[in-house]
Amino acid sequence: MVFNTRVTRILGIKYPIFQGGMAWASNPELVAAVSNAGGLGILGAGGLNGRELSIQIERVRQLTSRPFGVNLYYLNPNIEEQKRVVLEYAPPVVTVGAGNPGKDIPLFKEKGIKVIPVVATVDFGRRMEKLGADMLIAEGYEAGGHVGEITTMALVPQLVDRVSIPVVAAGGIADGRGFVAALALGAEGVQMGTRFLASEECHIHQKYKEAILKAKDRSTIVTGHPSGIRVRVIKNQLARKFVELVERGASVEELETLGMGALRKAVLLGDVNMGSLMAGQISGLINEIKPAAKIIEEIIAEAGEVILKLNDTIVREEDNG
Ligand SMILES: Cc1cc2nc3c(=O)[nH]c(=O)nc-3n(C[C@H](O)[C@H](O)[C@H](O)COP(=O)(O)O)c2cc1C
Repeated sequence: MVFNTRVTRILGIKYPIFQGGMAWASNPELVAAVSNAGGLGILGAGGLNGRELSIQIERVRQLTSRPFGVNLYYLNPNIEEQKRVVLEYAPPVVTVGAGNPGKDIPLFKEKGIKVIPVVATVDFGRRMEKLGADMLIAEGYEAGGHVGEITTMALVPQLVDRVSIPVVAAGGIADGRGFVAALALGAEGVQMGTRFLASEECHIHQKYKEAILKAKDRSTIVTGHPSGIRVRVIKNQLARKFVELVERGASVEELETLGMGALRKAVLLGDVNMGSLMAGQISGLINEIKPAAKIIEEIIAEAGEVILKLNDTIVREEDNG
């Protein structure tokens, strides 16, 4: 089965399934496995310097000849050197996390790179469309990592109605049901982060993966300063410390200092107490580590079944007596 949307046609991929770029967590082996399986694997540049990023791009190119992406996080201190590397290597796609890529969009496009900002509001999505974005990733409050305030369910249809470029839904999707629901809302693809953390190729520490498998529906919490960066993580000692500090009126700087290096601690050291276990609300649905290709295959197969089942629920009035 093939899903044919503007996203698959513009990017030349088989399935409209992105593996979201994740700082420290989306390693070249995961990215290539997703792209080889017909989706779009995306490297997370956050945390890397220019040289490290170029090595990772070269590694992906050794492992796949299919389209892939690089996620730039515009609040990163290394953003200028990361941008230079991206312009030099010209990966097929750049997705842009927190921050405004505004003036850089034409520079990427001149190199033939498709530019896909991640947006959490309709207004920001419309601004990105005007500045030349090729498509948008609408990321809801359910997602793992940095989040806005609007849920995927509410954001996607509102954004789709106000822009004419394709929209990819992110946040709270991990199976064929979520995939079909996103398409029903008007999205032309999905991006998943948490589901791919629990994949064989993802290099995050085993203890981090186990925390996702153990998680239930209420296991995550959004931490951070009300007016600063807000991050969805699995509840642990670090998350409780964040909550305590916010209650005590801590400053944005104090909270950001506490969060510094915490994702790295979780990914590389498996520190499940003081590491930042970024993961989405959908963690509770994930209970098995699988190869990335199997995750994609199962989603596509289940999506087909869901659509057939939905079709069966439509009863024409004349058939209903
Ligand atoms: C561990 C982790 C790290 C992430 N890092 C980034 C990042 O560096 N840049 C970005 O744009 N999004 C980042 N995200 C968001 C993902 O790319 C994706 O949009 C999100 O995980 C989708 O929601 P889901 O977790 O419910 O699937 C991260 C998510 C996780 C779980």
